[in-house]
Amino acid sequence: MLLRVYSLLVLIYDVLSLIFLIIKASLEAFYHVFFPPHQKSVGGEIVLVAGAGCGIGRELAIQFSILGATVICWDIQAGSNEETAIKAESLGYGAVKAYAYTCDITKRDQVHKTAQRVKKDVGNVTVIINCCNLPSPRVRTRHPAPDVCKTLDVGVMSHFWILQAFLPSMQQKKHGHIVMLTSVAGLAGISNLVPLSATQFAVQGLAESLNEELRNYRSSGDVKLTLVHIYPFIVDNEMSTNVQLRIPSYFGTIEPVAAARKIIDAMRRDYVEVSIPGYLLYVGKVVSLLPRKAIIAMRELLDTGVDFG
Ligand SMILES: *[C@@H]1O[C@H](CO)[C@@H](O)[C@H](O)[C@H]1NC(C)=O
Repeated sequence: MLLRVYSLLVLIYDVLSLIFLIIKASLEAFYHVFFPPHQKSVGGEIVLVAGAGCGIGRELAIQFSILGATVICWDIQAGSNEETAIKAESLGYGAVKAYAYTCDITKRDQVHKTAQRVKKDVGNVTVIINCCNLPSPRVRTRHPAPDVCKTLDVGVMSHFWILQAFLPSMQQKKHGHIVMLTSVAGLAGISNLVPLSATQFAVQGLAESLNEELRNYRSSGDVKLTLVHIYPFIVDNEMSTNVQLRIPSYFGTIEPVAAARKIIDAMRRDYVEVSIPGYLLYVGKVVSLLPRKAIIAMRELLDTGVDFG
């Protein structure tokens, strides 16, 4: 009898503390809407940008360099990647250095070999951003039916190869940040881009579970993860003039410079999950509560080619 009363009291206590924590977390989140957390410095960090040859990757490399970080540029296209590194270094703050490595991130061996070279030449990477999984308008229009394996290798497997190479040293030092990017194709399925959509959802699952792992694994509590949903289509300045987007977009377009600025801002504030523009993350979650038929009707009205479900 006494034991029962005791366990009942424990249960009540647990439920009350949970309610208290939920309210506290919600109030904190609400407070941060108006008073965002301070931006941390990225000076002195060693930032790996995979896919630095063009678009958003190039802009990220340049902006990190301007903020005083050492930048490691990876891309399969040697020429444009070196251009990025040169530009980043010339615009860099102080004696900032930028390095270019040609690497096919879909090949595990190549990733590991290149990682060894980076560790020898520069040191241990402390920030990872893989931009290769973001669909570009170029991919959409030139390859309407991309190879499934290739799409998954670029969009999903490459994350694992890069993490295997650099995460252990971050965990050992209890310092680091992983930024993952996902696009509008990861908000909901897009019918004629099934493999691509699958990769965008996979990245979200990867970010979610890795974040849980980092949180639980005590000694690496200081390795942060930020997932950024980029809802507008990113349009590279060079190609925007002659590329017609296949999917009419309610979400509009954004230039790589602006997208990179927002990604870095989210990372520096240690946000776990954000979207560009910010409110769409919440709208998407609320809309997904609606019945399927309502979602389909909304999709047809907006004519985005994107299903919110
Ligand atoms: C990189 O990290 C490893 C541990 O993972 C450590 O042994 C090594 O000394 C570090 N290198 C530098 C340059 O800090």
